[in-house]
Amino acid sequence: MTIAILGGTGKEGFGLALRWARAGETIIIGSRDAARAQESADKIKTRASQSKISGADNIAAASAADVIVLTVPFEGHVRLLKQIKSTLKPGAILIDATVPLAASIGGRVTRTIGIWQGSAAQQAAEILKGTPVVAAFQNISAEFLNGEADLDSDVIVCGDDDRANQIARGLAEKIPGVRALDGGHLENARVLEQITALLITLNIRYKAHTGIRVTGLK
Ligand SMILES: NC(=O)c1ccc[n+]([C@@H]2O[C@H](COP(=O)([O-])OP(=O)(O)OC[C@H]3O[C@@H](n4cnc5c(N)ncnc54)[C@H](OP(=O)(O)O)[C@@H]3O)[C@@H](O)[C@H]2O)c1
Repeated sequence: MTIAILGGTGKEGFGLALRWARAGETIIIGSRDAARAQESADKIKTRASQSKISGADNIAAASAADVIVLTVPFEGHVRLLKQIKSTLKPGAILIDATVPLAASIGGRVTRTIGIWQGSAAQQAAEILKGTPVVAAFQNISAEFLNGEADLDSDVIVCGDDDRANQIARGLAEKIPGVRALDGGHLENARVLEQITALLITLNIRYKAHTGIRVTGLK
């Protein structure tokens, strides 16, 4: 299974790539600039020896992958999805970690903006009709992913396709210290996206990096 991380030169995508490279996954870092993607891949190699990682422009990365992970700021979401739409392999799935923070249109970082479809992930599903879309990783801070310690977080996965959901939960649990939870249908993605804005508020108020753990599960 090849995983393309679009926007993988940024904080969140780089952190996911690092953790999955260490877990032995085959990764392609995607960027608008292939050279920048390769630079990030080379940096990961220095922190994850033996890793199977390379860099490419976003479109080439997406077209070569079985799993595409979207980690770009919301302002780039629609354009990038439209660019990759016709290039995806049959059977490919998309995991969307995008949070539609108001900051992406000049507003506050502690608020999300309203999306007609209900969430960024539902917007992705509408654009990529036919490709299963899963919402996950919105509530995992890049700060944790890029550190060396195990995480202490749940990743709630929402989606309408069982196979895609399972793949996303499996990848989440390859990150040490993460428990993956089934969060139901893709329509719940809007909750995941809004929780991130709340976590950012907590981070500011408590000068911390926060994540979520759900209690009461057996
Ligand atoms: N940071 C976190 O802790 C965190 C946690 C959970 C979820 N998220 C979500 O994950 C996404 C990425 O967050 P981030 O903090 O990693 O962002 P970031 O570092 O600002 O950006 C990630 C990458 O996206 C690419 N990019 C920037 N603007 C773009 C545009 N207009 N169109 C296409 N690509 C663009 C850039 O790569 P190139 O210039 O190389 O193309 C950049 O390195 C966001 O939606 C964010 O809300 C972030």
